[in-house]
Amino acid sequence: MDYDFKRYGLLHTPDLGEQNDEDRLDSWIIEAKRPMNLYQFSDENYRITKETVKRVEEAGGCNAVLEIGVCRTNSVSSTSAIITTKRQECKYLGVDKQPNQEDVESNFFFLQHDSGDYEAVSGWVKSLGVEKFDLIFIDGFHSVNQVLKEWKYTEWLSDHGCVMLHDTSIHPGPVELLKALDPKVWKLEQHLLNDHNDWGISCVWKR
Ligand SMILES: C[S@@+](CC[C@H](N)C(=O)[O-])C[C@H]1O[C@@H](n2cnc3c(N)ncnc32)[C@H](O)[C@@H]1O
Repeated sequence: MDYDFKRYGLLHTPDLGEQNDEDRLDSWIIEAKRPMNLYQFSDENYRITKETVKRVEEAGGCNAVLEIGVCRTNSVSSTSAIITTKRQECKYLGVDKQPNQEDVESNFFFLQHDSGDYEAVSGWVKSLGVEKFDLIFIDGFHSVNQVLKEWKYTEWLSDHGCVMLHDTSIHPGPVELLKALDPKVWKLEQHLLNDHNDWGISCVWKR
């Protein structure tokens, strides 16, 4: 992918080296690192997400959240952690290719679309009057190319804001993205659990 990596605070464009298929999402990292399990989003991931919403709030306010990959049906999910912790006035904007029920009264806005479609997502964000996000949670399709497209949304991150990525111990996109972060631009907090009930979660803050 032709990618202006410097513009997005990266040291290089992440790739899979000789495997050379940045759209794939297969098990090579899963097999290498951890066994499969049913609890990808662990209780600890849930706790960390809630805590991060509070930290962002204390750092300068959590007024708008963008989540890529939405799950309202599971009580232990990033979506649930965010919407049960944010202030009512904070706008939640979720994007997923699967349908979801919007709840405008609760400031829960939803776009059913491919999260990598910058034009569509940015047009929708603008139409809702949002210019900055204080939390961006990336948890959609985890290939390298898809995560790179979604990483462009970090241009909208407020100075005190945080980007969270799920599956940072497992899937090619988040794993390679973290390796490419420019430490002069970003401060990385990785939470890699060792009980196998977890696929890894990370917080990326602006320096
Ligand atoms: C692992 S789930 C994550 C949901 C939620 N963050 C959670 O904590 O459970 C991944 C989600 O990404 C969505 N997804 C996958 N590829 C996508 C794409 N190209 N565009 C938008 N959403 C996508 C799937 O429909 C699914 O709901």
